[in-house]
Amino acid sequence: MASPLYAIPGAASGAAATEPAAAAVATAATAAARTVNEVLAQSQVMEVLAELDRDLVGLAPVKQRIRDIAALLVMDKLRANLGLAAAGRTAPSLHMCFSGNPGTGKTTVALRMAEILHRLGYVRKGHVVSVTRDDLVGQYIGHTAPKTKEVLKKAMGGVLFIDEAYYLYRPENERDYGQEAIEILLQVMENQRDDLVVILAGYKDRMDTFFRSNPGMSSRIAHHIAFPDYAPAELLQIAERMLAGMNYRFGDGTVEAFASYLRLRTQQPHFANARSVRNALDRARLRQASRLFAEPDRVLGEADLTTLAPADILASRVFQANS
Ligand SMILES: Nc1ncnc2c1ncn2[C@@H]1O[C@H](COP(=O)(O)OP(=O)(O)O)[C@@H](O)[C@H]1O
Ligand SMILES: [Mg+2]
Repeated sequence: MASPLYAIPGAASGAAATEPAAAAVATAATAAARTVNEVLAQSQVMEVLAELDRDLVGLAPVKQRIRDIAALLVMDKLRANLGLAAAGRTAPSLHMCFSGNPGTGKTTVALRMAEILHRLGYVRKGHVVSVTRDDLVGQYIGHTAPKTKEVLKKAMGGVLFIDEAYYLYRPENERDYGQEAIEILLQVMENQRDDLVVILAGYKDRMDTFFRSNPGMSSRIAHHIAFPDYAPAELLQIAERMLAGMNYRFGDGTVEAFASYLRLRTQQPHFANARSVRNALDRARLRQASRLFAEPDRVLGEADLTTLAPADILASRVFQANS
């Protein structure tokens, strides 16, 4: 059965008639751009880059790589406007690998990346479909291809984010259906790269092993972006950002308490960077709520309701285990 997934959408720029109205408008609006600033003004991509800078703490190398990719796409647009697009192959390959430990911002950055790709007209819709092995691979013979194709259909026009992508490959199992999913992915990554960006994510060492065993996949990934663990000062800053976003804040002495908490927590197993920070703050908010709940007659003002006290942090099990 010929699947529409394997059809290469009109490669020539004259294919606009079959594209959604938004894409056609974007193409028309950028048609005359001759300067970087014109492309930036038309695509409004600087807003997303500025947001990325502002909202995400640290990640300097990641942010730089994203600016580089944005620059490449801007040049691509300017080249296309001058009729310089390479014959037969209009879009640069933008499949990526985000490697790093849990909670280092991979999923968050993938969402921003999709928005940038969309604004620069690389993908039509800019949505992210986030999956793991179980969404792609079936349990029985004949189940994998339809599953993978269904996911690809949903992701077309946007970004397919495959978390812990290395689980697709299980060499210890000779007849593993993951291989079937990988082969379908490879074809679509090659043939429809002008309308779908695949981002593989996961631990660095496992990703490296996966690529060594799957050279076909490795050769289709144009950008390898490493997400480092956050430094203690960055984790604190992330905590303050998160609290501000929820209309909470650290009270007197609470930053110090949280810094001590982080010193202990980072030594423990399963520490997951910014995700652990978020979880710790959620638990601190629970303790704050219980603390206030215990004084039912007290009038609670704005300061009471928004402030986390040192006790809300210091009651954590992390301190008990080490005392
Ligand atoms: N640099 C950062 N600045 C602020 N918040 C961050 C940062 N990195 C991650 N976060 C937050 O931490 C949580 C986990 O991030 P996520 O992108 O899911 O990590 P990963 O996908 O690498 O496991 C999210 O709530 C995210 O908003
Ligand atoms: Mg994630």
